[in-house]
Amino acid sequence: MNAADPNEILDDEAALQLDANGNLRHLLTLKGLDRALLTDILDDAEGYLTAPGDLPARSQSLAGRTVGNLFFEPSTRTRASFDLAGKRLGADVLNLDVNTSSRKKGESILDTIYTLQAMHVDIMVVRDASDGVPAYIARHVQPHVSILNAGESDVSHPTQGLLDVLTIRQHKGAFENLTIAIVGDIRHSRVAMSATHALTTLGVGDLRLISPPVLAPDADKVPGAHIVDNLAEGIADADVVMALRIQRERIGNLDGIPGIDEYFANYGVSHDSMKLARPDAIVMHPGPMNRGIEIEGSLADGSQSVITQQVTNGVAVRMAVLDRVGKTMAAR
Ligand code: CP
Repeated sequence: MNAADPNEILDDEAALQLDANGNLRHLLTLKGLDRALLTDILDDAEGYLTAPGDLPARSQSLAGRTVGNLFFEPSTRTRASFDLAGKRLGADVLNLDVNTSSRKKGESILDTIYTLQAMHVDIMVVRDASDGVPAYIARHVQPHVSILNAGESDVSHPTQGLLDVLTIRQHKGAFENLTIAIVGDIRHSRVAMSATHALTTLGVGDLRLISPPVLAPDADKVPGAHIVDNLAEGIADADVVMALRIQRERIGNLDGIPGIDEYFANYGVSHDSMKLARPDAIVMHPGPMNRGIEIEGSLADGSQSVITQQVTNGVAVRMAVLDRVGKTMAAR
């Protein structure tokens, strides 16, 4: 864990997540998953969407299986949607409260995992602040157990990447002709990394990652994307604009990070800055939002915003992923 090169971590994780037949066993990163598999997952997720007011889609495809949610970092959307997704597929769902778990008494993460494995928890959904934890666990569990990455440091958030590209596909169709602008703290954002992995595999026309220089990513982590430090230049004629919050919990030293007013003036996604994007551009945000810092509140609530649709899609994507690893398990 905490290896020096996140690209090496991701290459290693990519190799680990498919079984010998190419079926998805773990979901650790979107890097290395091919276009056909990404598209199949998005198609499956579409099948779990129902109209507002209708009952949510359900199946019994995971009946008898147990999903364990292990969130060693805070979460609202990801944790709640994995919980609902598991229940809507008929699984038993265990939400471990890590703050009152024996981790607080010094138990190692592997001993926690082995304990849950001994209770027949078949699918473990893991969020952790350290690089490499989901893959580390995946290397140690029994062959029938699946590990799903629910957010790994600043490295990867694969189900978020899937729900983001599903939302874009619903509004804009094919990716080839799209200009997509992601604005904010790219350097510390696992959301930006997973979106970049998915969008480049799906053949996006122009992906722009916009931030102040101090929050820009290393170029070798985002091949295929354009790194831009000027919002007007980056957002010009964009079809999709995604705002990201500043990940203060991952920034040791805040020196050089612009203050709130300066940041919003120069990098805030607002009604004003959206005038530079295409008139039919959509506005996205993975949440949680800091209104008035990276995004203007009334824009987030306005007609261009698809933020609540991202949340709805999150449940469908997580159902698609859970169902898929459940099928891999059943085929063993
Ligand atoms: N987008 C996202 O991961 O939100 P949560 O931290 O609330 O899960």
